[in-house]
Amino acid sequence: MTLDSKTSETTDEKTAAPKRILTGITPTGIPHLGNYVGAIRPAIAAAQNSEDDAFFFLADYHGIIKCHDPAIIHESTKAIAATWLACGLDPDRVTFYRQSDIPEIPELAWILNCSCAKGLMNRAHAYKAAVDLNLEKTDVDADHGVTMGLFGYPVLMAADILMFNATHVPVGRDQIQHIEMARDMAGTFNHKYKPLFTLPSAVVDDDMPLLTGLDGRKMSKSYHNTIPLFGEINPQVSSEKQMQKAIMRIVTNSQLPNEPKNPDDSTIFEIYKAFATPDEIKAMRAQFEAGIGWGEAKDALFNKINDEIAPYRERYEYLMSHPKQLEEILQMGAAKARRHSQKQLDKARRAIGIKPLAKLK
Ligand code: TRP
Repeated sequence: MTLDSKTSETTDEKTAAPKRILTGITPTGIPHLGNYVGAIRPAIAAAQNSEDDAFFFLADYHGIIKCHDPAIIHESTKAIAATWLACGLDPDRVTFYRQSDIPEIPELAWILNCSCAKGLMNRAHAYKAAVDLNLEKTDVDADHGVTMGLFGYPVLMAADILMFNATHVPVGRDQIQHIEMARDMAGTFNHKYKPLFTLPSAVVDDDMPLLTGLDGRKMSKSYHNTIPLFGEINPQVSSEKQMQKAIMRIVTNSQLPNEPKNPDDSTIFEIYKAFATPDEIKAMRAQFEAGIGWGEAKDALFNKINDEIAPYRERYEYLMSHPKQLEEILQMGAAKARRHSQKQLDKARRAIGIKPLAKLK
């Protein structure tokens, strides 16, 4: 027996590995229209229309890095699972699971930690931004407020990806560096021990519409300027009404009805475009130029979005009030995911020299 078995298994990108898509959603908030248009809708469409293998998961162990409110973690895990399923994600077709149901992921993260250079993590944008903020102040340590979770965030993310040998990882622009770090960690491990991990590539959709929020800045929960997709949990008013009210709050200029308006300068038109057909967009553009009033434009926008969302809303509300069904779906996904992760972790452990001393029986 030889300790050097580097050549026995090759899964690097040169072997035409089948395409495997994987992406994680961090459950620290309630999905809004920007999430729907930018991530949920395109990911579900891509998964439905292709034969590729797809893994979608709720990254709750990433969630607890930034959010220390147990109720928010719990409720938003539920809401996000219900959202993706309501919007048409087929759990029989894709592997849909919760990160924390796959104990092999944090185990692999530890293994990766042991060959990942600390210096690589020092260069992570999110960590550097936190340090830079501290350095602007006098009398605080450079690492003030930085947890080991935040520092090691990219290692856990690499474990998410490398665990399943994902080839394509759809992410927002801000996550590209993390995918590059995952490649780096895969390369280091493959070189040091044996070629076990596929090097993943980030997939960034340049046409992905980034929606503007109610106040004219990018729609983001941190700006409190979002239009909720299905409304807040335990709402006082129906989720349809919540959406309508949010749309009415979109900031416009003070142009009066009948004054010609510039559609390309309008949040209403921008969001409308994300939901309408080319013909409808053309007609709306003409209406703007003919001086449609802001109130009327907002009504048209609400109706357009609602046509698409209303059927999903019913299923969302059903799932939210039947958490047992949600849990069953997630457990089914976990069982599917663990068929891969148990094998992959076993290979990783053997590669680093952690294995039974002898076969018993
Ligand atoms: N960090 C990602 C985000 O904030 C979420 C995430 C966690 C993820 N693990 C992942 C994305 C693995 C892709 C692959 O958006």
